[in-house]
Amino acid sequence: MSVDDQKRAAGEAAALLVRDGMTVGLGTGSTAAWFVKALAARNLSIKGVPTSEATAQLARSLGIALVELDDAGLIDLTVDGADDIGPNLALIKGAGAALLREKLVWEASRRCVVIAEAAKHGDVFGGALPLPVEVVAFGHATTARRINAELARLGFAAPARLRIRDGEPVRTDNSNLIYDIACGAIDDPRALADALKHLTGVVEHGLFLGLAETALIGTEDGVVTIHP
Ligand code: A5P
Repeated sequence: MSVDDQKRAAGEAAALLVRDGMTVGLGTGSTAAWFVKALAARNLSIKGVPTSEATAQLARSLGIALVELDDAGLIDLTVDGADDIGPNLALIKGAGAALLREKLVWEASRRCVVIAEAAKHGDVFGGALPLPVEVVAFGHATTARRINAELARLGFAAPARLRIRDGEPVRTDNSNLIYDIACGAIDDPRALADALKHLTGVVEHGLFLGLAETALIGTEDGVVTIHP
């Protein structure tokens, strides 16, 4: 089974969790896109809360009715991908630069389900992809220096690097910048999350801790369900 087949299987399994009348958080990325497509194919009467402009566009094109987060009330179920899934379903998210809106939608949800291919799930947390941090553009180099000081204090060697694409800094849907930290294995994600969150200029980080209640992992042997 290819990686894409595993993502698709996980997305399709998650679409089966949705019931008529639900308000559903729609994640961002290639795995979440499989979920959105499978959900649209079910033709249910649901409202979607997108976690990015890209997902909003996809959902609209498939005929899914959308609602703003502020008008959604408590979201019944959010389904989204991740970059890394560790013990207790600790997650790293944000390779697609949507981490802030994703976390806002996740935290407004009764239940969050993460979907991914098998390679993303393991006992070691961190190291596969960098940890993204969304930073306000004003004074961002100063904020990055303060992030690096915190990283050094916590024993991480790699500095935060500004994400560049096509020669330009990547801008998020919220017009902020992304710094990526190639931090390797993260033994104490809570300490790192707290340290980053306390820095002025940091809007949000890609550590999603204690938020996912279920993971649906596409594997060679079908979709496996994991709880924290
Ligand atoms: C978007 O910012 C991310 O959090 C994605 O959910 C994550 O990067 C997973 O993406 P893929 O499903 O494309 O691997």
